Amino acid sequence: MSDTAGKSRIGVTGLAVMGANLARNIASRGVPIAVHNRTTAKTREFMEEFGHEGAFTGSESLEEFVAALEKPRRIIVMVKAGKPVDGVVADLTPLLDEGDIIIDAGNSHFPDTVRRTEECAANGIRFMGIGVSGGEEGALKGPSIMPGGDESAYAEVEEILTSIAAVVDGTPCCVHVGPGGAGHYVKMVHNGIEYADIQLIAEAYDLLTHVAGLDAPAIAAIFEEWNSGDLESFLIEITAKVLAKKDEKTDGPLVDVIVDRAEQKGTGTWTALDALGLGIPLTGITEAVFARGLSALRDERKAASTTLAGPKPGEGENPDSLVDDIRQALYASKVVAYAQGFAQMRAASKANDWDLDLGAMATIWRGGCIIRAQFLNRIRDAYAEHGDLENLLMVPYFTEAVANAQDAWRRVIVTATQQGVAIPAFSSSLSYYDGYRRERGPANLIQGLRDFFGAHTYLRTDAEGSFHTRWGQDGTEVRTDA
Ligand code: 6PG
Repeated sequence: MSDTAGKSRIGVTGLAVMGANLARNIASRGVPIAVHNRTTAKTREFMEEFGHEGAFTGSESLEEFVAALEKPRRIIVMVKAGKPVDGVVADLTPLLDEGDIIIDAGNSHFPDTVRRTEECAANGIRFMGIGVSGGEEGALKGPSIMPGGDESAYAEVEEILTSIAAVVDGTPCCVHVGPGGAGHYVKMVHNGIEYADIQLIAEAYDLLTHVAGLDAPAIAAIFEEWNSGDLESFLIEITAKVLAKKDEKTDGPLVDVIVDRAEQKGTGTWTALDALGLGIPLTGITEAVFARGLSALRDERKAASTTLAGPKPGEGENPDSLVDDIRQALYASKVVAYAQGFAQMRAASKANDWDLDLGAMATIWRGGCIIRAQFLNRIRDAYAEHGDLENLLMVPYFTEAVANAQDAWRRVIVTATQQGVAIPAFSSSLSYYDGYRRERGPANLIQGLRDFFGAHTYLRTDAEGSFHTRWGQDGTEVRTDA
């Protein structure tokens, strides 16, 4: 009898809803799968509820779980990011053999994935960090999958992963991203972009509510209409649904009784911090994180709302084209947020030697994930046509899209500012755009000041070398690199 007879091809440990749904998705493809959860009751519940759906082996201990798997063992870990992942890896390690594969499919921070890859390699275990996006439904019916790690390990799971992923135009939304932490890195940026997209939608909603004076059902209809144009995407689609939902208790719009304090689990902050480290301007995502922070200061905002002076939204002149202007501002800001996110991935790829194929990232984000959108086809086409791109804004399609939208975009920002509506993502995106298209900005003065107080030196536009002016002495300039 061969070693594989009667064994499962893959295992999932961690049967909370994401792990359970991923396991069911895998089983639905006819793959024999072992399932395990630290709390045995959960495994029993899973087997009772879903055991009939496929070739599951329910394991009550990690030993049983590992013994149920064919070699090399392929183990998906779907537990909370952070310490729980280290705990499972530590428990599994003594039970595994050389060449076995541990796959962390949670939202782990990529430096942890890099560390775990090294620790596992020291024990002969191949570790993969894979990004999985799409929430509960995606995990069950077809997520977008961003696998990172050793290529030989990926080859062992490629067939299963591509078979459970979402498919767009015949292409599965799953491709090997790169080594080490690359998969979790790309998932992190995906989440950062998700933050920016959501913030831009929230700003549009705020303007439609408080400047245009529309109610939630009317705004729902607007988003539904927008979803048939350039903005077509999962997030715009569900915005229409959330806004249209009636509250069972009050009979009014549900959104009107939801507390205006946004929570977050940390991936947006990681994305912003990473961009700061790389020196990449990432205004859209970072402002989205800050906006969630501001939303959380609910009590402070309440006090400030009666103390701090400013215009009242809705009490100013609105352009006739306001609603369509907001649509265009949303689209232009979205282009900027994606251009920034892709520039960040490009910089990280260079810094880490990941050789990321950014066109492929756009391709696997077209389906299954939270930021899935028509728009990603445009990004995919841009990379197919232009290869390594410094900035998506320089691709004719996007150059033109933003050029066409910019009058409306500027009008929205003026109107919002005059009426006192905060639009951090809209306005910082425009500032980035205006800054990026300036051949000469004001940083010459920054350099002058730095040289004045700290002798940090400056370059000249008309000469080679670096220079320092003896500001506090005789005022003469010296060359410092000669
Ligand atoms: C996904 C999502 C998911 C994330 C939630 C919540 O791709 O399926 O990005 O991974 O956990 O969107 O994130 P926040 O709680 O930070 O908003």
